[in-house]
This record gives sequence, C-alpha cells and structure tokens, in this order.
Amino acid sequence: MANQIRGRFQKEAAKNAVAYSSSIHYDWRLYPYDIAGSIAHARMLAKQGIITATESDKIIAGLSSIGEEIAQGTFQFKPELEDIHINIESRLIEKIGDVGKKLHTARSRNDQVALDVRLFTRDAIIHTIGHILELQSVLVDLADANKTTIIPGYTHLQKAQPILLAHHFLAYFEMLERDIARLEDCLKRVEVMPLGSGALAGVAYNIDRKFVAKELGFTNITQNSLDAVADRDFIIEFEAAASVCMMHLSRMAEELVLWSTGEFNYIEIDDAYATGSSIMPQKKNPDMAELARGKTGRVYGHLLALLTTMKGLPLAYNRDMQEDKEGFFDTVDTLMSTLEVFTGMLATMRIKTENMAAAAELGYMLATDIADYLVGKGMAFRAAHEATGKLVNYAVKKGKSLRELTLKEYQKFSAVFDNDVFNITVETSTAAREVPGGTGYKQVAKQIAAAKRKLKESMSDE
Ligand code: ARG
Repeated sequence: MANQIRGRFQKEAAKNAVAYSSSIHYDWRLYPYDIAGSIAHARMLAKQGIITATESDKIIAGLSSIGEEIAQGTFQFKPELEDIHINIESRLIEKIGDVGKKLHTARSRNDQVALDVRLFTRDAIIHTIGHILELQSVLVDLADANKTTIIPGYTHLQKAQPILLAHHFLAYFEMLERDIARLEDCLKRVEVMPLGSGALAGVAYNIDRKFVAKELGFTNITQNSLDAVADRDFIIEFEAAASVCMMHLSRMAEELVLWSTGEFNYIEIDDAYATGSSIMPQKKNPDMAELARGKTGRVYGHLLALLTTMKGLPLAYNRDMQEDKEGFFDTVDTLMSTLEVFTGMLATMRIKTENMAAAAELGYMLATDIADYLVGKGMAFRAAHEATGKLVNYAVKKGKSLRELTLKEYQKFSAVFDNDVFNITVETSTAAREVPGGTGYKQVAKQIAAAKRKLKESMSDE
C-alpha cells in the first residue's frame, strides 16, 4: 500500500518484510513532532515561493486536523505505511488531495526523522529535569526535617562515623544536580535543526533553514548534511545521562531496601509504596525500590544496544538507525516513572529516628574522635590512632562500649586520657566537622539553604 514510495517496484512487499520493517507501533509517539516539523517546513516552502500561500494553508490545516484525529484516537495507523511519517503524509493526501503531495518537496524522511527525534528529545529532557527537580525538592524537605537526626555513616557497609541524616539526603541532591547538568549539556546538541539535509546531500531548492529552526525554537542548524542524517549522538548522550541517573536512583533504592529490613529498621516504606507476599502474611516488601534497582539494567542495556547499532554504520543514513527508538522511548519512560515513584515513596516513608539514634551509639564510631582528642593533647596522629585502636580492641573483648569503660581503663592505653574524654558524644563528633562540605550542623544548614535557593531558581526558570 505504500505505493507513493514504491513507484519503481513491480511487486508489493512481502507480508513478513512489511511486518519486519514497520515501526508505526512505536514511532506513532513522534506524531506531534512530525506535525510541528511539517508545519514549519510548509510555512518555509510558502515563504520561499516554492509552494503558494494557499497551498501551505491547506497543508497546515490538514496537518492540524490529523493531529487532532491522532490525539482523539480516531486515526487509523497502517503498518503497511511503515512509519509515522508516511502514515501522516498519506492521510494528508487523502484529506486534502494532490496539494498534500507537495509537502515533501525539499525534504527526505532521513532529515525528517532526525528532526522529529530531536524535537522529542528536547521535550524528554525538559520533562526529565522537571521530575528530577521534584525529587530534589523532597530530598531537601527531608534534609530540613532531619537537621539534627544523627545516623551511623558507613564505609564498606560498616559503621564508620556519625553523620546527620540531612547530610545523607543531600548527598543524593548533589548526584541529581550533576544529572541535571548532564541533561542540560545534552540539550545544547539536541537543539540543532537538521531539516534541509535531505536524504544526505542537502536539497536543490532555495530553502531557508534558519527560518525553520526559528519556527521550531532551535538556535542552530546542522553544518553537514551527511552528519545531520547519520547522527544519533544526542540519543546516546541522553541514554548515558539516564544510565548515570538510574545508577544514582538504584544506589538509593539499595539503601531503602537495606534500611527497611528488620536488621536495620531505620525506615518504613508507606503502604502506598509497599507490597505484600502471596504466602507470608507478615511481609511488607520494598518492591518499588527493588524494581528501580532492577530497571537500571534495561536502561544500561539500551545505551549499549544503540552504541553497538551505530558502531559499524557507514555514512550516511542506514535503516539500522530505526532501531534507535524503542530503547530510547523505554529509557525515557523508565527514568521518568522511576523519578515519579521515588518522589512519592520518599515523601511518604516513615523515618525511625529513634532507631537511627540508637544505632549511632553502637559500633565504636567515636574512635576517630578519641584519636583526635589525643592529638589535641599533643600526641602525633599515628600514635593516637594506635592507642585508640588498642583501646577499642580492649572494649570489644570486654563486650563494652567506649562509654562503659572507666577512666582507669582508658589510661591503660595512654596516660594523657582525662575525664573530659567522656564529653565526646555523637553530637560533639558531628559538631566538630564544620569543614565546608562536612556533616557539621552549621555546614548542613548552609547546604540546605543553598539547595533551597538552587531549587527556587530552577523552578522559576521553568
Ligand atoms: N522509520 C525510519 C527511521 O526511523 C525513518 C527514516 C526512513 N528512511 C529511509 N530511508 N527508509 O529511521
């Protein structure tokens, strides 16, 4: 049926070949961008006198009503018409007659699809950043509500030093800041207008590419027609940025899973974001976090799939490139839904600060502060480290916490110890770390204020 592009053929395409190559079941999503691009193109053709203003008006009205048909679900997508471009164009001709056949003047599907995907990516980036900002704002609220909550900080998943829970939440805020920066950087290379590149060599009409770019809100036009139709770097960049962002969310997911175990018992995921077991009635499982951790794999997979698809392609367009879309759409959908679920899950989870505080008292986490104390009394750090190490070993053997030892016991390890060693607490430990970027109370308050300022600026940019 795709007869408008099968003029040179004497046979219909084989059924299985049509099924194999048709992309309409997923690229229909490009329709608003395909229509916007075609409208800009038709306007330009009229402005340049390549078609008349009346023809352009008819084409534009036809395209707009096709957009409505698709939005309302009355449009008949036809697999034999391959893709969204031919589906729309053939409906246009059906609706407005032969004048519809003029739309594709000075254009190829190769530059058309490049444009459509760029327009789609621009929206995807803007929406993704919006979702990241919402998650960041929940993290800042959580930090604000937990400015004095102390939790064990870990290295090697072993209790290491006391930190503020706010500091922990703000660590994820920073990761998401970098994710936004990566997406914004990608956007610079997305907003470049490829139309006019034709199939590969440019077109033989007196077109105005800059006008089309301006119509579509793009700042620049592509500089090389071969590259313009063969370039999918911007999708790879989006997928790479999405992979890093999913990696961040997956690390957070892992902590939510750990923290909601009976063993940690730091948080309780809200019923709205937890699931039960079909056999064990007592279970409340953190499935959303686990799914996010699991879905990270498919997002990485899409990145690797497209890198592999592209690596052997000679210039310029090759049909292999049609394989860019399903993985890309899935990446966008997976990242956005994961961000949304995390925003809701974090905003509603119950934080068991009393259990965190109790855990922070265990595990000899004040050992560094005791070594620092000895340094304060004039000892060299390495000597202080050794003396404190022996002290901890002694306490472990006695089955006591450092608080439970007597001054006499302390003094077995250094004569320098005095009663003021008992002034060291998780609070003084935290308060001591007022270095910029540290977990000190004032530092964290500053970081919360700075994060709020950044969010306010970003939200008003939107
Ligand atoms: N559906 C195609 C794609 O996504 C559109 C471009 C087709 N171009 C072509 N020469 N067959 O890549």
